[in-house]
Amino acid sequence: MKGVILAGGLGTRLFPLTKITNKHLLPVYDRPMIYYPIQTLVKAGIDDIMIVTGGRKSGDFLSLLGNGKDFGLKHLNYTYQEGEGGIAEALGLAEHWAKGDSVCVILGDNIIEKNIKKAADDFKAQKKGAKIMLKEVPDPERFGVATVAGGKVTRIVEKPQNPQSNFAVIGIYMYDGRVWDIIKTLKPSDRGELEITDVNNWYLADGSMTYEILDGWWTDAGTFKSLHHSATLVAQGGANN
Ligand code: G1P
Repeated sequence: MKGVILAGGLGTRLFPLTKITNKHLLPVYDRPMIYYPIQTLVKAGIDDIMIVTGGRKSGDFLSLLGNGKDFGLKHLNYTYQEGEGGIAEALGLAEHWAKGDSVCVILGDNIIEKNIKKAADDFKAQKKGAKIMLKEVPDPERFGVATVAGGKVTRIVEKPQNPQSNFAVIGIYMYDGRVWDIIKTLKPSDRGELEITDVNNWYLADGSMTYEILDGWWTDAGTFKSLHHSATLVAQGGANN
């Protein structure tokens, strides 16, 4: 399984911090944000990684990360997203590299306390379909929200006004090799983006989606509040344990 880290976008919710740089290069406690998702993939046993970057200072990723020596990697792959076409569009840019392989996708601003090794191993054994990770949160309306019944996800709604559960779909997704063709069928949402929630709903309709509840804390870091919160969580006990 290959790993893709999505680290593009203009990070407008963090203006003016992101006026001259890419959100994923900002510090979260003692290291740049992008370090955490790389570590998450490496700890899950995924060492063939592509970073999809874009926006401002995208060349700085190469200066910062090089070939991934800090993570014990021999090589890192990079590609560039023009504009803000959404998470699913950014993922589609990795198609030529992944060549029909399955993939673990992580949003570059998602940080976790523990690791996803078991989920990644379970997904490899699953062979077909998709796996998403859920976490109970107090503010589900900020995220994709999953309804679960009888051990299965029955519905996923992107940022619902009236969430039907407290389960946020976190920004770590595993897909089989069909994902590349699914992305090509998507239409832009009201916010003009190709939504990852639409990819997830495709697998839901196909009946081939599984889920796991994430162990330990999870946070994104795309707003002032969550960026501050993530630094506090990391300072208190570290991430990727
Ligand atoms: C994105 C996804 C959302 C997911 C969230 C996790 O939201 O669209 O489904 O729950 O990441 O961080 P965004 O950060 O684009 O608002």
